[in-house]
Amino acid sequence: MNPASEPRFCANGQRQPRVAVIGAGKVGSTLAQRVAEKNLADVVLLDIVEGWPQGIALDLMQARGLEGHDRTIIGTNDYADTADCDVVVITAGRPRTPGMDRSDLIKTNASIVVNAAKEAIAQSPNAIFIVVTNPLDVMTYLAWEATGLPQQRVMGMAGVLDSSRLQAFIAMELGVSMQDVETLVLGNHGKQMIPLARYCTVKGVPLPQMTDAETIERLIDRTRHGGSEIVGLMQRGGAYFAPASSIYVMVESILCDRSRVVSAAAYLQGEYGIEGLFLGVPCQLGREGVKTVIELPLEATEQQAFIDSAATVRQNIETAQTLLAGNSQDG
Ligand code: LAC
Repeated sequence: MNPASEPRFCANGQRQPRVAVIGAGKVGSTLAQRVAEKNLADVVLLDIVEGWPQGIALDLMQARGLEGHDRTIIGTNDYADTADCDVVVITAGRPRTPGMDRSDLIKTNASIVVNAAKEAIAQSPNAIFIVVTNPLDVMTYLAWEATGLPQQRVMGMAGVLDSSRLQAFIAMELGVSMQDVETLVLGNHGKQMIPLARYCTVKGVPLPQMTDAETIERLIDRTRHGGSEIVGLMQRGGAYFAPASSIYVMVESILCDRSRVVSAAAYLQGEYGIEGLFLGVPCQLGREGVKTVIELPLEATEQQAFIDSAATVRQNIETAQTLLAGNSQDG
């Protein structure tokens, strides 16, 4: 264990907030940077590759004087260094390559996420978990099972990201400030996501009053493929700036108990007609995790899309569980 990774205390005895980021790829390391440089919390960045998270942490520490903060960033390969974190973010796993669907990653990422969740909960039993690894609606369920935590303390990231992509496309199309655009995307983080145009507004004005149906459909379609458009452009990797910003918003709302309403994969207990799954819905995030799930009236086609989205996630969870059972018999 790294002695520098002990929790730090303020003069009044209050412990500094601590965030563990599991997986020091582009998303994880950019998140570490955002959390530290926005002065939100100390960060423990963990990866299995020896030297890699330590190097990133040292680089971020060397930028502290220039960025003007005193947050500590520790890089480690040892879960003991993540002890007592308030939030654990799991980004570990393989990313997509061009032409791949997120569900193609189930086999590779299921055991990585389950192992990370078990190791992390053993060190931080009071943490809130945010799962980012794809396919994230499935991985969130597996992480929840692995931790044994109450459902409100585990969630998946992507509704914030999908909503911010739609926000960007609307603002770019209409030539208005991003700040004035509100968007809402439900469902799973994949081709079956459900962007709800009638709940999108430009300074309170519903989107269908601002532009025609064909334009809206084009923007929605671009949002559905927002991640793969970037994978296709970059060829060696995928998006990480907007994903890291999306996770940051969630971590901040939790640590500062802001009760922000975001779209995130939350555990459903009958809301939207779905039981026992994590799926993207509007919810409030605070110190206890998911404080409330907000249930909106859906039109029949939207409700059906939600049910279809849930069926895919359920099927993929079963696939993942079968693979995991096979692995444990082999091993
Ligand atoms: C994306 C990844 C995070 O959509 O799934 O960019």
